[in-house]
Amino acid sequence: MIAFWRSSVGKKNIVAVTGAILIGYLILHMLGNLNSAFGPGADEARVDWYAHWLRDFGEPLLPHAFVLWAVRVILLSALVIHITGIVQLTKRNRAARPANFPAKRIGRSFESMAMLGTGVLVLAFIIFHILQFTTLSIHVTPVEEGAVYSNLYYAFQKWYFLVIYVAALLLIGMHLRHGVWSLFQTLGFDNPNRNPKLRHGSTVFVLVLIVGFGAIPVLFFTDVLDPPNAAAVITSSIGAVGSLTGGVA
Ligand code: HEM
Repeated sequence: MIAFWRSSVGKKNIVAVTGAILIGYLILHMLGNLNSAFGPGADEARVDWYAHWLRDFGEPLLPHAFVLWAVRVILLSALVIHITGIVQLTKRNRAARPANFPAKRIGRSFESMAMLGTGVLVLAFIIFHILQFTTLSIHVTPVEEGAVYSNLYYAFQKWYFLVIYVAALLLIGMHLRHGVWSLFQTLGFDNPNRNPKLRHGSTVFVLVLIVGFGAIPVLFFTDVLDPPNAAAVITSSIGAVGSLTGGVA
């Protein structure tokens, strides 16, 4: 395994497989988020029920939130290996290029040249996003543990959060359009007859992701989705006051 990782071909394959794991998570996350489109519900918002279900999954056989934590460990490991592999491959390519030899640009798409740049920005977005909705460390809008619908509703009343998320989705789209295509190449699915289909396939996939993810902030911002029901509003505003006063409330 170590020899495989050390070889450039092995590293490329591992970057492709870890990329596929992250993409798999994105598809599930997008589907999970779409639960928000069912609104605040009479009793509990469907997306809140879904978030609780994720935490309870496997109980009583497994400890509380075990599956959630297992997924987190897999995702974080995949992300770290993916980035380490890319950084090492880039260094290796640069070292192999003779001095004063310009990077080959002919036939390369803008997205393929921008992979490092979009990758860094996507990473920055993921850190910001986890701070906002998972650790609830950003208190610009009311946030409360377990109240996913309400947290999303208040965040996406603000135009600047809408802009940040739509911009991040476009960057992720650029990164993935090329990423999915190179994943197919690395894993050996490409051939001249199939390549145009693979290219179109990656574009369609990325568009589905952008629309699927982007729909939720847009539906909240345009007030198509109703505010959280009264109980959630009261508790989340208490939570916001608590965070402003250092968490006393
Ligand atoms: C409009 C787009 C998105 C919305 C509304 C959204 C919403 C959320 C929410 C509400 C949570 C917390 C869930 C909970 O506490 O159960 C979350 C967690 C997370 N999101 Fe997103 N998300 C979006 C896009 C993305 C994208 C594009 C990525 C990756 C590139 C991503 C990666 C994550 C990760 C890694 C977590 C942490 C999961 C965990 O360990 O609990 N999200 N997201």
